[in-house]
Amino acid sequence: MALRSVLPRALDEPLPPDVLADLAARAGRRLARFDPDPVAPPGGRWHVRLRVTDHYDVWLIGWGVDSRVELHDHGDSAGAISVVRATLTEHTPRPGGGFRSHAITTGALHPFAAGAPHDVANEGPDTAMSVHVYSPPLTSMTYYDANATPVRTETIDLPGLVEDR
Ligand SMILES: [Fe+2]
Repeated sequence: MALRSVLPRALDEPLPPDVLADLAARAGRRLARFDPDPVAPPGGRWHVRLRVTDHYDVWLIGWGVDSRVELHDHGDSAGAISVVRATLTEHTPRPGGGFRSHAITTGALHPFAAGAPHDVANEGPDTAMSVHVYSPPLTSMTYYDANATPVRTETIDLPGLVEDR
């Protein structure tokens, strides 16, 4: 991690991608030590915010088989995903239409930029768990239709454990 990465910075400026990846990797490794066997119903997800600081927050998400978010971005937050258990698939819109798909396997890290829409899904066969780091801390998500047109923006409440279904 370069020294410039940890120098003081504006609160609305995302931490650099290498720092976000490092935070996600460390949190993922810590959780993997417990050899978690997450439970989530088919098609359902849960999420809990584990940590919040001025510059970033850390979320743990459980993914039932066949669960997905839908196409979304993370507002002004950049971030990184570390998969702790099983495999997630990211779907990213192509400029000319259609989607590019990318598997994020156990132990893999996946950075993403602020404002970049994607969908994330657990396409099975096992229940998945992942750590997500956002910087600045997540405050809103915009959702898109299948043509990658924005349809709604939701502000993020500060939950305990939240089950999406
Ligand atoms: Fe996302």
